[in-house]
Amino acid sequence: MGLKRLDKLIALNCNVSRKDARKLIKDSAVTVNGRICLRAEELIDIDADDVSVKGYSFTIKEHIYIMLNKPKGVVSATRDPAKKTVIDIIPDSLKRKSLFPCGRLDRDTTGLLIITDDGAYAHRIMSPSHHVYKTYEAILSFPLYDEDIVRLESGITLDDGTECLPAKVEPFTDNGLPAARICIREGNYHQVKRMFAAVGNHVEQLRRIQIGSLRLDPKLPEGESREMTEEEMQLVFIDQ
Ligand code: URA
Repeated sequence: MGLKRLDKLIALNCNVSRKDARKLIKDSAVTVNGRICLRAEELIDIDADDVSVKGYSFTIKEHIYIMLNKPKGVVSATRDPAKKTVIDIIPDSLKRKSLFPCGRLDRDTTGLLIITDDGAYAHRIMSPSHHVYKTYEAILSFPLYDEDIVRLESGITLDDGTECLPAKVEPFTDNGLPAARICIREGNYHQVKRMFAAVGNHVEQLRRIQIGSLRLDPKLPEGESREMTEEEMQLVFIDQ
């Protein structure tokens, strides 16, 4: 059972400031289990209580978890003075204060990105000690040699001396183009591009397709996002 203050929950779920949430409460616009509640500090049971604002009841949630199919051209940041961010392209119905992307995809990388306002959840995904694998599909300039795969799978050393953990690599062709699926549990700057560069190849296009056992929803077009289910949230922490 999670008990949370009424004004905090309204601010989070209705994407308004805490001050505006208090005003809504003071103006008798908020009911709890059918009764007007005038106490901002009222403790709400997230799992059991029914809260309405201006007559609209909503499912109260402390946090939100969003799956985005990131398109090219947007940056994985919360704000940017010049460029569009992944937060800018989230629809208003899912927007909340404090949303941020769990990790970074390069501006030209597409695919699965989780956006949340839950710092602890994001930490579990991003921290290397939690060993969450991320799977990418890369279109390459040249086919991979068997010895490239052996080097990538046994832990390759990048040009700057960084030693990578062993990856899982599966070559394939994508519409006749050389390609590979690569599964890693690190998230260093340009990690996948630099790993392929270290075997003399070049990534032409990169798409993240999976985090843990959570796959990018094939029905989610590029640029679109939706809330994740409880099951999907847990799939992230299950080994593939
Ligand atoms: N590795 C890269 O090189 N780029 C990404 O966007 C993600 C992983």
